[in-house]
Amino acid sequence: MIKIDDRFFPSAVKEKVAAYASLAVESLKHLQKGAGVHSTMAGWYNFPQHTGFTLEADLKGFVDNIDQFYDCVVVIGIGGSSLGAKAVFDALTHKYVSSVKTIHKPLLFLGDNISERAFIETMDLLSHKSPFVVAISKSGTTTEPAIGLRVMRDWLKQKYPGSPVSERLAVITDKTSGALRKYAEAKQIPSFVIPGNVGGRFSVLTAVGLVPLALCGIDVHNLLKGADQLFKELGKDGSSEHPVLKYACLRHAAYEAGYPLEIMAYNEPQLKAFCDWYKQLFGESHGKSGKGVFPSELMMTTDLHSLGQFIQEGKRLFFETFLSFKDPFPRRSGVERNLRVPKAPGESDDLAYLESRLIREVNDTAMDGTMVAHADGGVPCMKLALEELNEKNLGYLIAFFEVACAVGGDLLNVNPYDQPGVESYKQNLYGLLGKPGFEKYGEQIKKRLHG
Ligand code: PA5
Repeated sequence: MIKIDDRFFPSAVKEKVAAYASLAVESLKHLQKGAGVHSTMAGWYNFPQHTGFTLEADLKGFVDNIDQFYDCVVVIGIGGSSLGAKAVFDALTHKYVSSVKTIHKPLLFLGDNISERAFIETMDLLSHKSPFVVAISKSGTTTEPAIGLRVMRDWLKQKYPGSPVSERLAVITDKTSGALRKYAEAKQIPSFVIPGNVGGRFSVLTAVGLVPLALCGIDVHNLLKGADQLFKELGKDGSSEHPVLKYACLRHAAYEAGYPLEIMAYNEPQLKAFCDWYKQLFGESHGKSGKGVFPSELMMTTDLHSLGQFIQEGKRLFFETFLSFKDPFPRRSGVERNLRVPKAPGESDDLAYLESRLIREVNDTAMDGTMVAHADGGVPCMKLALEELNEKNLGYLIAFFEVACAVGGDLLNVNPYDQPGVESYKQNLYGLLGKPGFEKYGEQIKKRLHG
């Protein structure tokens, strides 16, 4: 389902790929058997088969049961608890889903930052809406969504004084532990489980992504089918020639050759959130022990008018991966909608040569031209090419990046499933805000900040 075009990757870098191939195949075997570093946290691998399709059936009952009283869904969560749902939702729905009539309900986010303004403006919007809220936190203790949930609960109580919060709230958290689980049990809030063996950033195809997406009307069955297809292909043929292992080896070869930064370039603005998800997946999984490729993104053609100059001629640091969908515009209505450059005889804008051409072809041509230009500028470039931007291909692509990330961790010799570095900012925050148990720590930081 994915083709890799690596013609614009330098031969000197490609030659190194063979050196990593057997390690990548070995890593995949470990992943499949749940061995080595994958022994406790690889529950996402093959998830559609062992849990996903059953969960999908339960989920259908849940969505049907809560009636259709809600007109939007609010996710309270951060990092792996929110980025996946946003990635899929934005990629598959109308850009102006809140204002245009579509088959999808809008998806909003709260508690993915601590901005007072973001809280208040979301509340302003919700005052005209009838929301269903999904609070997601594996640990149940993350500060941002915990504040978000309190704010949301108060708001729900004020807006619907006669109704219990449980009518409009579901919780997704660990099966037994954490504050959110305790809260759900005490208040009889409907709940779903984040499997203990799946970390946040690998959880989009578990309840974490599937519940909010299903509530919004996304076809989660085909998302799971797409991921399942990748796992099936790898089950049959985990050879180093499979595109997913090839991609993992190419990015590792680039890293070893002195390119410690990957730019994910895309030409469909609705893929921005998908690239935010990709950044978290690779950034949090690989960036440790002084190692890792820094993941970044480039929205085409917009960012060519800001970062394009640097990419073409600035310091050589990065390789570039172009993410290309042949048909990036899901035609839900079944109506063919083609937009061509309008004819305008006699116009002086020098566009006559483009008249009547499909705008999406112009867009694809811009991607190809950019790839060759950047390669000429000394940037190793490859393209990941897919067909239609639909649920199935997106599910496949999610699983593709997850496998590449897990295997890439083995190539770098880092554990892709932990994130010890994230604790530093949390400790400072707790100390400064006076969380019990962090007082001494807080004093030290305050001295350093304020003398
Ligand atoms: O990938 C991860 O593990 C993290 O990004 C978490 O998803 C994020 O920190 C949120 O954690 P939690 O779901 O426990 O609130």
